[in-house]
Amino acid sequence: MEVSDNDCVDCERLVTVRKENSIKFPTYYNRPVLSDGYEKTNFLIVGLAPGLHGANATGLPFDGDFAGRFLKQCLEENGFRLHRERKSGAINYCITNAVKCFPPENRPLQSEINNCLRYLKKEISVIQPNFILCLGAVAHNSVVRACKEDIIVKFQHGNSFRIGQRIIFDSYHPSKRNISTKRLTPEMFIIILKKIIKEIEKVIPA
Ligand code: URA
Repeated sequence: MEVSDNDCVDCERLVTVRKENSIKFPTYYNRPVLSDGYEKTNFLIVGLAPGLHGANATGLPFDGDFAGRFLKQCLEENGFRLHRERKSGAINYCITNAVKCFPPENRPLQSEINNCLRYLKKEISVIQPNFILCLGAVAHNSVVRACKEDIIVKFQHGNSFRIGQRIIFDSYHPSKRNISTKRLTPEMFIIILKKIIKEIEKVIPA
């Protein structure tokens, strides 16, 4: 990616946290985590930000934590495969986050979300997905802004809408809290995956 993945200093707070975590967790990645998959792919999934002991530790979005395990199990069981593990017959996807650095309490500030938008825009321009799944309202707002700066669409779980040729889907984020409170259940999430499959199969017959 033209923007370097380890020297971004746009967000003072996040740079400080990265430095602190490099001392506390010296074996962790502790750098901005960019998209897993960075070439033309029909389907992109966008989450919130790296989890401290997940993506921030491994350097891969949705890797090594509860949200990642939930998400990838549902995806795999429904015929989706990570772009780098692509398989014919599967729906291959890239996966990234709206915010690339671990934010304290998993809550990025609006200024940090704004600063990070250029990375997401760049990823979308390279990946050129026709279908995007947004996990939560932060991902939704960043994806809408990255695709078309001047429109407002409200986040709504289960909703889908078009921006140009692209179809964008909204789901609650598969965080431990959302899953344990049953705000998001595997059944609810699979309904959205099936909706995505149906739309993708309209353009690429199964
Ligand atoms: N891990 C990520 O990479 N992103 C999230 O939004 C949650 C966990």
